Amino acid sequence: MKAIRTALLASLTCAIAWGCGDSSNATEPESPSSDLNSTWDVIQATILSTNCVECHVAGSSFARQSGLILTPDVAYSQLVNRAPHNAAARTDGLFLVGTEGLASVDKSFLWEKINAPNQLHYFDHAGYGALMPLGKPPLTNGELEYVLQWILAGAPETEHVADQALLNNTERYEPPEFEAPPVPALGIQLHLGPYDVAPNFEREFYYYQPLDNDEELFVNRVDIAMRSGSHHLILYGFSDDVPAVLMPEPNVFRDIRDPSGSTNLLNLLVTQYHEFVTGTQWPLMNYHFPPGVALRIPSNSGFDLNAHSINRTGEVTQGENYVNLHTIESREVEHVAELLNMNNLDFSLPPNAVTTVTRTFRTDERIHIFQLFSHAHEHMTEFKAFIDGGSRSGELVYIAYDWEHPPILELDPPLILEPGQGLRLEATYNNTTNRTLRFGLLSVDEMMILFGAYYVD
Ligand code: HEC
Repeated sequence: MKAIRTALLASLTCAIAWGCGDSSNATEPESPSSDLNSTWDVIQATILSTNCVECHVAGSSFARQSGLILTPDVAYSQLVNRAPHNAAARTDGLFLVGTEGLASVDKSFLWEKINAPNQLHYFDHAGYGALMPLGKPPLTNGELEYVLQWILAGAPETEHVADQALLNNTERYEPPEFEAPPVPALGIQLHLGPYDVAPNFEREFYYYQPLDNDEELFVNRVDIAMRSGSHHLILYGFSDDVPAVLMPEPNVFRDIRDPSGSTNLLNLLVTQYHEFVTGTQWPLMNYHFPPGVALRIPSNSGFDLNAHSINRTGEVTQGENYVNLHTIESREVEHVAELLNMNNLDFSLPPNAVTTVTRTFRTDERIHIFQLFSHAHEHMTEFKAFIDGGSRSGELVYIAYDWEHPPILELDPPLILEPGQGLRLEATYNNTTNRTLRFGLLSVDEMMILFGAYYVD
């Protein structure tokens, strides 16, 4: 299960993990109904039931993994004065929701998990997992304020303690204007650009940036900031067998297309030796590895940065990106992170039909998986992963319904697979075209990949 190399040609990199469209599938809150007898009832009916219960429901793998059920019968007792399932939050002395008003705001894990405007602070905590709702836009500012008022009032079950008019504010947190993040206290900052993007053009290129590191580095947190108009930024490393002649010149823009639209194939040859390291489609991303887990970056290495900027105006615009690689000392590293890449190259989807493809990948060593996310193109309607083998065989551990924004699932504690066990991937596609679809590199082709990260003992 070592990383299987994927030849990711330019035309598809825009789809790697995130897709190319700008879809916002925000759902508006239902207007609160008057027969809800308390602030808690309103939170349950208009916030939890509509945004959270789909995952936090008894019997689902998400509920098992998070130890949290948010259906009306049990949600209050699941939250109030209950210790979190998350080990880091428990160690920090948090409750899911505390009842001491102001003193409980920063001690309520529920609040930490939904408070998107405070996410820079949130990601200072290693091991708190993803923001909620997982894989969806944040709650509205009105919903957040309403929950905050409830916590400030001591999280009562039966009284009205917050004004329902707050819920009329349906704005959502937007990441701040682009600015350079502070240089990490320990680590490296990469800076790409500013560079021009021609009018009405999508500029996508690779840019090899050496790290000039005499010693190996252990990265356990990555922050990425992108100027608006950036579609994505991905960091690739190179596999060991990359031929020296293909290694790119440092600090040179290797465009995939020139403004006339023709593709620079030579610039793509090396991409078949790429190994995905990290990346984002969001203007601001922070990813913190679990405590003690870090990516090992060999000495004197570098990253091939892949940037894609979209300019829909008639004027030249500028693209720019920052990447902060926060490192820890080698003695703090308990486990080196390995990248998981389960890529099914062998499937075919007949025209005008719905097809489910199944493929099992097994491991030959004991592995601890702590992150999973799927990747497919636009015909995918559902992507599931089940444990194969062992006492939990058949258990669903990952599901995505949205090919463009698959949830990036953090598994804490990690999912342990013994030698011979594996994951069974099951992806369903609705092929609405008149041709058979197969694995392919263009966005009109399809893919079936489960990415992730793991460590070995
Ligand atoms: C797509 C599935 C999904 C949705 C939707 C979702 N969650 Fe979660 N939730 C998870 C998973 C998986 C975890 C555990 C991993 C993590 O924390 O990142 C989790 C963890 C949590 C935890 C931490 C529990 C603990 O004790 O450690 C809280 C609190 C939480 N979710 C609240 C919410 C709220 C509130 C919503 C709705 C606004 C929501 N979630 C929506 C999947 C989901």
